[in-house]
Amino acid sequence: MYNSILVTGASSGIGEATAIHLAHQGFRVFASARRTEKLKEISGLGGGRITPVQMDVTDENSINAALEKIAGEGVKLYGLVNNAGASAMGPFEKLSLPEWRSVFETNVFGLVAVTQAVLPQMRKAGRGRIINIGSLAGRIASPFQSAYASTKHAVEGLSDSLRRELAPHGIKVSVVRPGAINTPFGQHEQEMLAQFEDDYDYGEQVKIFKAWFDRQHPTGPPPIVVAEAVHEALTAERPHSRYTAPKDMTYAVALRNFLPSGLTDRILERVNGLESTRKKKD
Ligand SMILES: NC(=O)c1ccc[n+]([C@@H]2O[C@H](COP(=O)([O-])OP(=O)(O)OC[C@H]3O[C@@H](n4cnc5c(N)ncnc54)[C@H](OP(=O)(O)O)[C@@H]3O)[C@@H](O)[C@H]2O)c1
Repeated sequence: MYNSILVTGASSGIGEATAIHLAHQGFRVFASARRTEKLKEISGLGGGRITPVQMDVTDENSINAALEKIAGEGVKLYGLVNNAGASAMGPFEKLSLPEWRSVFETNVFGLVAVTQAVLPQMRKAGRGRIINIGSLAGRIASPFQSAYASTKHAVEGLSDSLRRELAPHGIKVSVVRPGAINTPFGQHEQEMLAQFEDDYDYGEQVKIFKAWFDRQHPTGPPPIVVAEAVHEALTAERPHSRYTAPKDMTYAVALRNFLPSGLTDRILERVNGLESTRKKKD
């Protein structure tokens, strides 16, 4: 029997590519998200191995209903890919608390709720894989990204703790960290940043940063590079704690890990163009 995997946020981008790729690799995939019409389209692309399941990760009743549906098919999940995610971009000072809370609800508490709901069956089986989709922003926080980056830093921390906690139970935990990937996610982020381009206090910085940021997602690799990393994390006998996708972005993490913060700040400013604004203020 195929190992069964639940993918959250499978109606678009990385989750969609992951659901289709895993199905083609022989897994039975439960593809979940809120938009079921999109999921139905995707289920046709998985060689009959994708089952769409409606699930809002911020709604406990919706999570329970989805898991009941999966259990009703006599399936015990081998893997969970926590991919559903949202962003919030803008100056730290100007993003409202509801915007901060909303992104944490999806990216952190949603991930926690789905994982808690799935864990008992994996623990009883004494096997399983949990793949949490983090981000390069979970290691390197750009300006105007504080809300989103802090959710992805939280994913890194909780995944380390969970990996150590679950090792004795035969359950392996990995983080897959995408760099800028060509999905609709980038478009949402650009629209959020655009709201602050005329801001009296931060507008000049936002415009410069946005001009750089706008180029990142459209020129990024397709989501299959992340799907392949997820597949590796699900199938490797000894999966890594972290995968960066695309692999060539690992240099950016090394930069963050080994260089002093001050130097990293200067390099990032040079890359994203904000160096000019610092000079004016210095
Ligand atoms: N694209 C990138 O450059 C990039 C880089 C680093 C990390 N990531 C991470 O990769 C993941 C996927 O991003 P993506 O680029 O594929 O974005 P995307 O194309 O915008 O897809 C986001 C997915 O999350 C789902 N989602 C959002 N809120 C949800 C909720 N409350 N409940 C269930 N599903 C929800 C959406 O489905 P519905 O709206 O249908 O529910 C959609 O399927 C996210 O965790 C993101 O942070 C992306």
